[in-house]
Amino acid sequence: MATNVSHLKHTRIDLAEDVKKRMIELLNTHVVHLTDLWNQTKLAHWNVRGPHFLSYHKMLDDLAAHLVETIDEVAERATALGGVAGLPIQDLAAQTKLPKWDLSVTKDVDVLKALADRWAVVANEARKFIEESGEHDPDTADLFTEVSRQLDQDLWFLEAHIEQ
Ligand SMILES: [Fe+2]
Repeated sequence: MATNVSHLKHTRIDLAEDVKKRMIELLNTHVVHLTDLWNQTKLAHWNVRGPHFLSYHKMLDDLAAHLVETIDEVAERATALGGVAGLPIQDLAAQTKLPKWDLSVTKDVDVLKALADRWAVVANEARKFIEESGEHDPDTADLFTEVSRQLDQDLWFLEAHIEQ
C-alpha cells in the first residue's frame, strides 16, 4: 500500500481520523497504479506498429488522456481528506504492483493484449476499493465507482480490438 498518511492536515470533513487515513491509503495506492498504467499506455501509444497503426495509436492516446483526468480526481480526494497525494516517481516505481512494460513488444495485437492485462489489474483494484470504501465513506466509494466504470469501458475498447 502507498504511504503518505501519517500526518493528516486539518479538514472540516467529519469522518473519523482512522477512516480518513485508510481512504487516503486506498486513494494513493490507486494513484500509483493509475500513474504506472498511464506511463505504460503512452509507451504502447509511441511504440505500437502494424497495418492499423493509426487507429491503435489514436485510441491509446485517448485512453491515456482518460487516465490523466482520473489520476487528478483520485489524488485530489486524498488531499480533500487531509492527506498528501501522490509520490515522487522513484518511490512510485518501487511501489507499483503492475508488471514492467516490455519495450521489445511492438506488434499491434501483442501490445494491446499486454496493455489489457495491466488495465484489468487496475480496473479490478478500483472495484475492490469500492467495496472497502463503501463501508466507511460513500463519497470515496462513489469516486471509485466512477473510476471503475471508466476503466471497464476502456478495457472493453482494448479487448474489442484484440478479438477477431
Ligand atoms: Fe502522441
